[in-house]
Amino acid sequence: MKNFAARLITWHRHHGRHDLPWQQSRDPYRVWLSEIMLQQTQVATVIPYYQRFLARFPTLAELAAAPVEDVMALWSGLGYYARARNLHACARAVVVDHGGAFPHDPAAIAELPGIGRSTANAIAAFCFGARAPILDGNVKRVFARCFGIEGFPGTPAVEREMWHQAEALMPARQGGDYIQAQMDLGATVCTRGRPRCEACPLAEICVARQAGRQAELPVAKPR
Ligand code: ADE
Repeated sequence: MKNFAARLITWHRHHGRHDLPWQQSRDPYRVWLSEIMLQQTQVATVIPYYQRFLARFPTLAELAAAPVEDVMALWSGLGYYARARNLHACARAVVVDHGGAFPHDPAAIAELPGIGRSTANAIAAFCFGARAPILDGNVKRVFARCFGIEGFPGTPAVEREMWHQAEALMPARQGGDYIQAQMDLGATVCTRGRPRCEACPLAEICVARQAGRQAELPVAKPR
């Protein structure tokens, strides 16, 4: 059986997106900005905001030096405004606490305002080649289905199990491609409703697919 990461990386080479504005740079400022914008917002909505934001604040130093009101004005329409406040606070923290350069260590990145473990790992993997896996909603859905993980992924025990799995599956090389593949697979193939299993590189090894349980996994939030 060809392994999980290799299947994803090969799929991504042929079917993933390679032309998004934030994929043209390994500058942590640009990657971080894109990851924050993409947390609760679709790619197509993010693109014009991302470009306007970088036109106004080409560098992290310029963002840190700006009044927070200017940042909020540029964010207007994107929603989840805590993201914009944290963005500004994070830029200032990088300047004040890290001499203006993002730390390379995923744990240090995760200490910054508005950055959780998964986003910190994505930045470290994309920009610095760290062997640091992500675990967002999309990845949880892929794991729950592919490995037949029972239990609501929001519970601490299930989340802990999934982080272990994510660490074990993360490949030593091509980590950035692997992470981008996971994001793209969850967004375009292993979707919540009507997953496109016929187009999925994991179909042959997917527990949910074999049992016809795609609609039951991941398990819904208990109520
Ligand atoms: N969602 C979060 N991060 C993303 C990325 N880098 N590409 C596409 N969708 C994403």
